[in-house]
Amino acid sequence: MALLDILVAPHPTLAKRAEEVTEVTDEIRQTLNDMLETMYKAPGIGLAANQVGILKRLVVIDVSNPEEEEPKPYKFINPVIIESSDDSSVYQEGCLSVPTFYEEVERPAEVTVEYLDETGTKQTLKAEGLLATCIQHEIDHLEGTLFVDHLSKLKKGMIVKKLTKLKKQGAFNKKQDTHTL
Ligand code: NI
Repeated sequence: MALLDILVAPHPTLAKRAEEVTEVTDEIRQTLNDMLETMYKAPGIGLAANQVGILKRLVVIDVSNPEEEEPKPYKFINPVIIESSDDSSVYQEGCLSVPTFYEEVERPAEVTVEYLDETGTKQTLKAEGLLATCIQHEIDHLEGTLFVDHLSKLKKGMIVKKLTKLKKQGAFNKKQDTHTL
């Protein structure tokens, strides 16, 4: 297992569409394990491959509460949302690639996602609550979309400007101090 570097916005790789995985190989399984390790270490509850500079459609998530539950890692290969509820929910979202900023984002409250598991088998998962939000946030990453892209142009512009300044100052060169998606 290896820790991977997490990219901080603005970064071109975070704005690109990741490509479908055509074959589930040992290398893919290794990448998923490395992503999980990187996510837990950050600490975060979700990570998409774009965030570690890999343009493949891979996502890891664990929304379990580490103080109360056993870890419940999810590994998604080529995840696709096949159904979204009409009712929505609002969460204050953050992102390991947008450190120190948190904003409310409205998304469908329930989603059904289709994906390949580590063995290359097609799976379907119906999710609600934080898991549903997290799945949508991470699939956005695979499309090159960040949660700040859901905000007003003004708000997004302000956050990107501040992030650019913080990056220049070397604020994120060391360990991440946020616990986010
Ligand atoms: Ni994120």
